[in-house]
Amino acid sequence: MIPKELEQLEQALSLTPNNLYLRYLIAQKYQQIQQWQSAEDHLLYILKMDRDNEEAAVDLLKTYYHSQKYNASLMVGEDLETRNKNNLLEEILYYRSLCYLRLRKNEECIKATKAWKSINPNAHDEELDNAFVQKIGVGLDESQESDWTDQIEFELRGMIEKPTIDFSHVGGMNQVKREIDLKIIKPLEHHSLFSAYGKKIGGGLLLYGPPGCGKTFIARATAGQIKVPFINIGIDDILDKYYGESEHKLSSLFALARSKSPCVLFIDEVDALAGNRTEFRGNTGRSVINQLLSEMDGVENVNDGLLIIGATNTPWYIDPAFKRPGRFDKMIFVPPPDLEARDEIVQVILKGKPVQFVDVHKIGEKTESYSGADLVQIVEQAIEKKFEASLSEGKVIPLNTNDILEEIKRYKPTTKDWFLTARNYANYANQTGFYDDVAQYIKKLKL
Ligand SMILES: Nc1ncnc2c1ncn2[C@@H]1O[C@H](COP(=O)(O)OP(=O)(O)O)[C@@H](O)[C@H]1O
Ligand SMILES: [Mg+2]
Repeated sequence: MIPKELEQLEQALSLTPNNLYLRYLIAQKYQQIQQWQSAEDHLLYILKMDRDNEEAAVDLLKTYYHSQKYNASLMVGEDLETRNKNNLLEEILYYRSLCYLRLRKNEECIKATKAWKSINPNAHDEELDNAFVQKIGVGLDESQESDWTDQIEFELRGMIEKPTIDFSHVGGMNQVKREIDLKIIKPLEHHSLFSAYGKKIGGGLLLYGPPGCGKTFIARATAGQIKVPFINIGIDDILDKYYGESEHKLSSLFALARSKSPCVLFIDEVDALAGNRTEFRGNTGRSVINQLLSEMDGVENVNDGLLIIGATNTPWYIDPAFKRPGRFDKMIFVPPPDLEARDEIVQVILKGKPVQFVDVHKIGEKTESYSGADLVQIVEQAIEKKFEASLSEGKVIPLNTNDILEEIKRYKPTTKDWFLTARNYANYANQTGFYDDVAQYIKKLKL
């Protein structure tokens, strides 16, 4: 198997084993004929004698990669990098990307690939590129390249979900379901009818209401109801302290969503992007608002089949420009869970917990205007107390209805403050009638 020339070189080396130059030559020959184990042995020998031999180290890193010793390869690369050899960095990062790709460490792979491409913008590897293009299902051309890395990042951070819940999992809330059905689902199902009347499909829906009352939950269920992907975006994914970066991320995000359409693009805490809450603005300012407006309008791209759902606890901060047609022109108030919803929520919370018998309905009746998050908190606290009691008695004491009712007495619903604030806006800033639903709800409450 070993070529004659190599055999002779090996013989020569056996006479002068410390001739590192010769040894390195041999190691390279072994690499050429893909005899990785022999190459590795020689390279390790060299490095033992001459730790600073960077050429040999880079060859070892490649050899490890080819013999599928990816973690070893990564270690050599890290060691080299700490020695700050800029001329080798491109190669180190390239192999690092490949190793992470093989190890299926996607996020690290993206980081390494990004760093690699930042050193050499023309750097290109079919396999690395293909792996991600396939994954995100969009083609890659040069102008999209920087968008592309952002998009992969969004994808890999698990932002694209296949929803596992639909309306049947949302307890009660029939009014909200009806509105979503009318404003979002029906138009989609009767696409041709709507376009025959010149009506646009898609556009934006703004869910608003007190925190912890199911906005995110219902948005996700909406995607499940129409069986489309759910892209879940928090403001932290968008807002970036570097100038222009937030705008860039927004546009990447919309590009990704368009490539997945039909889908639901959910923007949580949208007031931070679309509002005038100064504490969130930082360096961003007006241009983020403008970017979001133009993405929603589909100025440069068509938003067909893109259902944009925003959620906010502070609808009064949303810039009025967003409420114009084609943007967040449909607003839906998501009130605290009704009795049916509370029953459902409590049942879900109690699943898998040490309970004896809990009268879910009784709890539901005692928790008018409590949020879903409040209910979670109440049950957690009741369980915590039981747990302490169980510890001191040395046996499991299951939770019962009274434990939870006791806890409810101690816990004030968090939605109250929200309604106090909302009442001011409903009273003094309701020219457009946007807050009619809230006003109506407030009337029922004894604030
Ligand atoms: N109608 C409902 N049916 C079942 N569970 C609900 C319902 N409304 C809210 N929840 C539960 O309450 C929790 C809080 O809701 P979430 O959607 O996070 O609130 P928000 O986004 O409004 O702050 C969720 O984990 C969800 O499981
Ligand atoms: Mg939420």
